[in-house]
Amino acid sequence: MTVVDLSVRLGRLELRSPLVAAAGTVGSVHDFADVDALAVYGAAVAKSVSHEPWPGRAAPRLAPAGIGMLTGSGSQNPGIDRWRSTMPDPATLPVPVWGSAVGADAAEFALVAKGLTAAGVTAVEVNLSCPNLEEGTMFALQPAASAAVVAAVRAATELPVGAKLSPNSENIVGVAQAVVDAGADFLVLTNTVWGMGIDLETRQPKLSGVVGGYSGPPLKPIALRCVWEVASALDVPIVGCGGVQHGDDVVEYLLAGASAVAMGTVHFAEARAGKRILRQLKNWCEEQGVERVASLTGTSLPR
Ligand SMILES: Cc1cc2nc3c(=O)[nH]c(=O)nc-3n(C[C@H](O)[C@H](O)[C@H](O)COP(=O)(O)O)c2cc1C
Repeated sequence: MTVVDLSVRLGRLELRSPLVAAAGTVGSVHDFADVDALAVYGAAVAKSVSHEPWPGRAAPRLAPAGIGMLTGSGSQNPGIDRWRSTMPDPATLPVPVWGSAVGADAAEFALVAKGLTAAGVTAVEVNLSCPNLEEGTMFALQPAASAAVVAAVRAATELPVGAKLSPNSENIVGVAQAVVDAGADFLVLTNTVWGMGIDLETRQPKLSGVVGGYSGPPLKPIALRCVWEVASALDVPIVGCGGVQHGDDVVEYLLAGASAVAMGTVHFAEARAGKRILRQLKNWCEEQGVERVASLTGTSLPR
């Protein structure tokens, strides 16, 4: 029987498994309901944190929508100082922890990156899908604004820096190129897509913020297209993210060009989903005679 090597490389990072627990879906990692289940991941990303505390939006912040989920928390978080005082040393957790930074401008992102680095995370993810308060839109829609944030984070930390982009971008390759030029070591493709829902009893929007992020299975073809487009155009390590429910989804992202694959919404229904999905991935590799998961990256064939 084929013995499958699950380890992958993501630029400078060595991951023991291609699976990543996506930001915001396993809390601050240590407070995830089933911390031991995180041992199957190559990394787990803590919920995004800003410099000052962000109060977030009023309830409701989460709503089911078809087979996906709407989220509009307004990135509520306690701010980096309080975050650090409540976070145990990441080295004591069963999984490498990446921090995720949000901010209103590049300088704030840089301060958060410094705090995350001091807290002992192994990489910094830059959440460019939060609002750019000056422009009233999200950083990830603007190549120059995204590049300015990544450059500031790059200057603030020696750790690997990942830029998390948005499927709402009309030119994701352009934004990807801009953040890579600014020093991003890897990309996370993607965050949620904009969506909304209306409650038929109250006739009101389901989320207090009206429009929020839509995640879960319907996001997969959208994020997969982003991975494929960026991987076809640029030579940069990619974490695919969006709608993963099964090991086959992971294989699809790898074939499209991802080196690792993050999963988020699936944790809300199944806290131990990573274990099942890794087993399914392993089974697929065994059946196909694939010895190294890493060898699958970017091997989809032309039609
Ligand atoms: C409840 C919830 C909270 C999230 N919080 C964050 C966050 O703090 N930072 C971030 O970059 N992405 C956040 N995300 C986005 C996820 O990390 C992921 O990119 C997205 O949900 C798509 O993957 P999925 O379909 O597997 O959930 C959040 C998603 C959900 C559902």
